[in-house]
Amino acid sequence: MREMARAEVLLDWYDRHARDLPWRVSPARRKAGEMPDPYRVWLSEVMLQQTTVAAVKSYYERFTALWPTVGDLAAAPDAQVMGEWAGLGYYARARNLLKCARVVTKEHDGVFPTTRDGLQALPGIGPYTAAAISAIAYDRPEVVVDGNVERVMARLHAVQTPLPAAKSELTEAAAALTPDIRPGDYAQAVMDLGATICTPKNPACGICPWRGPCAARAQGIAADLPRKSPK
Ligand code: ADE
Repeated sequence: MREMARAEVLLDWYDRHARDLPWRVSPARRKAGEMPDPYRVWLSEVMLQQTTVAAVKSYYERFTALWPTVGDLAAAPDAQVMGEWAGLGYYARARNLLKCARVVTKEHDGVFPTTRDGLQALPGIGPYTAAAISAIAYDRPEVVVDGNVERVMARLHAVQTPLPAAKSELTEAAAALTPDIRPGDYAQAVMDLGATICTPKNPACGICPWRGPCAARAQGIAADLPRKSPK
């Protein structure tokens, strides 16, 4: 199967099975022309950096109710933001969140940059988060690679090289698959695949949209990948 056809198969699956998440614009609404709010995409991605979707939901709802725009968040007292963050952990994220909101408000007229480089120049935004925001909020064909994507790529291509040595190979595999059409939906589709089907343990290969081309499934080793170097 050619790479483009693979992306289309995944997008078709996402159209039918996308998770309903509070920060997400559904594939149907995206097709009708609705774009996500970059502030909300950024906020969700920072919260999701080291925290699960289930834990993030209520925090995301509270933050967006208290501070509907990046300017509102930028104007909030530090202590209130830190207090609302309590329980999410990794408090450097909350401090960088405020710094970033203030830089975007003061230096970018409240508009988040569209490119990966522009986003990565902001406090608290690393390569993964920059790519995710650029793809999801602005529908740019950025290659988004996190642990979920590494696992999916390792299995699809039956990569036996252990992590972390396999990282560059897995990033290249992800790049070759990233489509020019609907890159934002595609990035979210791979995340959903990794979270709901291509899970670390007991992957549900029988219902996977990529069960046809998956090399690890053909070899019966999906659950064993990605391999990891001993620490
Ligand atoms: N994990 C990181 N970013 C995510 C997103 N936008 N949707 C679902 N899970 C995620």
